[in-house]
Amino acid sequence: MRILIIGGHGTIGQCVSERLASTHEIVIGGRTKGDVLIDIQETASIASALEKTGPLDAVICIAGEAKWADFYALDETDYYIGLKNKLMGQVNLTRLAIPHLNPGGRIILSTGILADRPVKMTASAAMVNGALHSFVQAAALDIKEEITLNVVSLGLVEDAYEKYKDYFPGHVPISMKQAADAYETVLYSAESGVVHRVY
Ligand SMILES: NC(=O)c1ccc[n+]([C@@H]2O[C@H](COP(=O)([O-])OP(=O)(O)OC[C@H]3O[C@@H](n4cnc5c(N)ncnc54)[C@H](OP(=O)(O)O)[C@@H]3O)[C@@H](O)[C@H]2O)c1
Repeated sequence: MRILIIGGHGTIGQCVSERLASTHEIVIGGRTKGDVLIDIQETASIASALEKTGPLDAVICIAGEAKWADFYALDETDYYIGLKNKLMGQVNLTRLAIPHLNPGGRIILSTGILADRPVKMTASAAMVNGALHSFVQAAALDIKEEITLNVVSLGLVEDAYEKYKDYFPGHVPISMKQAADAYETVLYSAESGVVHRVY
């Protein structure tokens, strides 16, 4: 398969790219580096990157940000960061990627454990993840031409544990192998509209 992995140089994206590179043609998309530059926050950037990339069999997005802060510190503008970047970035990517996919193409988005097990400071980040789960389940019902739309929702991964461990007291991180396994499993799955959780 010819697969665009957005965020393919990131903590999770790199391990997924390395796993899939032995059997697939990987095109890495990133905001600051990659085979193709793309900022999922900007619709024009998504469209231009997809135009440059050409026909694809799969698009995997392992990118997206939201503001982490105490509920009382989050103002309206702070919420819009996650809505514009991680939520609408992945919604717009889905909308725009479909015409570039070969029949039977696959789209895989990324969320995370906060959707189901939020921790303090994540009112915005958890909300965005939950919204994406609902989006994927609903949009998959309408998407045609055997194109599948799924989402991978991981727990804290071991390579990010040091950075985030204080937010997740008692949390046992998942291994990078489990993370790569999750994306690979969903890539080969015939199902659509599934939230693939690894917690
Ligand atoms: N780390 C975890 O334990 C964990 C667990 C569950 C879910 N997640 C979710 O998984 C995703 C990836 O996490 P990560 O830890 O791998 O992040 P990361 O190490 O910060 O990597 C993110 C990657 O995505 C790219 N990126 C960021 N914003 C982008 C944008 N607007 N458009 C295009 N590319 C963009 C970055 O490229 P540049 O460096 O060029 O900006 C980078 O390559 C995030 O949405 C995160 O919330 C993470």
